[in-house]
Amino acid sequence: MRRLVVLASGRGSNLQALLDAIDAGTLDAQVVGVFSDRINAHALERVPVSLRWSRDAKAYAQRADFDAELADAIDAVRPDWIVCAGYLRLLDAAFVARFRGRLLNIHPSLLPAYRGLKTHARALADGVAEHGASVHFVSPELDAGAVVAQARVPVREGDTPDALAARVLAAEHPLLVAVVKLAVAGRIAEAGDTVQLDGQPLLAPLTVESADLACMAPPTK
Ligand code: GRF
Repeated sequence: MRRLVVLASGRGSNLQALLDAIDAGTLDAQVVGVFSDRINAHALERVPVSLRWSRDAKAYAQRADFDAELADAIDAVRPDWIVCAGYLRLLDAAFVARFRGRLLNIHPSLLPAYRGLKTHARALADGVAEHGASVHFVSPELDAGAVVAQARVPVREGDTPDALAARVLAAEHPLLVAVVKLAVAGRIAEAGDTVQLDGQPLLAPLTVESADLACMAPPTK
């Protein structure tokens, strides 16, 4: 069974979506560790104590020191895939290089739009009709790696950043589960700045529906 590590800084609802899919038998994987840069991250409480690792990243003088300790701790649990799910800290280049190709992140925007923080407020300020979420391979540049799949969400009249964030979050959960299913099945790979699905370059990101369909219809070869 494929071994998942999840990195989270806060609430952990995306982690919970993965745990629920595993419990339901729809995601053939096991979570072998939840790692956080915040000692009290609620996400940690979603798994048994033995699977929790947290340090206060702010207590480290150098970013590289924290990331190296984090990377060593992750390596120790021998993950196949590392999923950043609400991990609100930049990973340094050495960390990304060490795990490149098996490092995924979920970001609340239709990348390449709105990299970084406060994506919902920025989308509303721009008056866009559609917002959403992306799951992408992590590259050294912030929120810039190859996008595997996206979920599109309509912006509604009178939306506040919180209302829009809640609608996007509801779309994030099935999106993340669908992509992790493809990952653990060995169906996706990072190839430079593109994604390969079943060995073929993906010309555009999958949608939740197409990612689900791909999960349901593995190649016959
Ligand atoms: C999600 O919107 C995720 O896309 C973003 O941070 C939020 C984390 O939510 N990076 P949760 O901790 O998974 O509930």
